[in-house]
Amino acid sequence: MVSVTIAFAHHKGGTGKTTSCINISGYLALSAKKVLVIDLDPQANATSALGIDKNNLGESMYDVMVGAVKIEDTVLETEIENIHLAPATLDLVGAESYLYRINNRISILKRSIEGIRKYYDYILIDTPPGPGLFIINGVVASDYTIVTLDPGVFALEGVETLSLIFDDINESSGVKINLRMAILTRCNKASLFAKIAGRSDPVKEIRKGMKGFFDSVFTVPYGAEVYEAQLKGVPISHYKPKCKAGVAYKEIAEEVMR
Ligand SMILES: Nc1ncnc2c1ncn2[C@@H]1O[C@H](COP(=O)(O)OP(=O)(O)O)[C@@H](O)[C@H]1O
Ligand SMILES: [Mg+2]
Repeated sequence: MVSVTIAFAHHKGGTGKTTSCINISGYLALSAKKVLVIDLDPQANATSALGIDKNNLGESMYDVMVGAVKIEDTVLETEIENIHLAPATLDLVGAESYLYRINNRISILKRSIEGIRKYYDYILIDTPPGPGLFIINGVVASDYTIVTLDPGVFALEGVETLSLIFDDINESSGVKINLRMAILTRCNKASLFAKIAGRSDPVKEIRKGMKGFFDSVFTVPYGAEVYEAQLKGVPISHYKPKCKAGVAYKEIAEEVMR
């Protein structure tokens, strides 16, 4: 077994990267897949969302990114069967300036997971916003990238900016980034987009605009349960699996397993 590695990326914050990473991991785990979630965001939201106290950790992704420990020395079991976590803490902020000073700065994560890929079916990497070295390490380490979009007025512009960032990475490193899937999160037909643009089906419109960028585009409806599950520190699959947002993430997880 060699794991499939997937990065969740967008240069903007609040587009649903962490939410998608965690909830997809939950449905993969329910399907008896062994999953490792790597939290590469100093905000450590993925760590909290999996029920781990980020203020009470030993070694974390900071230590991995500065080359002090192997990633396997940071991995924790979570309360959720089949999900392991390589946690983040706020310290991780400090690793970026270290990365700028070394060679191979874009492939630290890729090399760090080589030895553990055989233990997992899926490795999901949650990256922070911004065009910095963490997002680059995440996408370079991955077989493909899932882009999450908040379906507002600027969603399409966001995709264009992101594809420029990825083109840059490709040109400077030779690493081809596979954009397999986009997820429009918190979808709501009565969104601001619809009101401003006076359009009847903004989601359809955005999907159409994304043709050419992605093989598939999924939507996840807004659901208070998503937020509640995060507060409880479990994926939606282990809280209210049948709610609408849950069912949407289940379908996405099925596509991931295809
Ligand atoms: N489908 C959804 N329904 C309700 N709230 C959502 C949904 N998706 C994301 N959210 C909320 O939106 C916020 C931003 O999502 P998050 O995944 O943290 O974004 P990012 O990781 O891209 O910064 C979070 O508070 C999260 O709970
Ligand atoms: Mg996040």
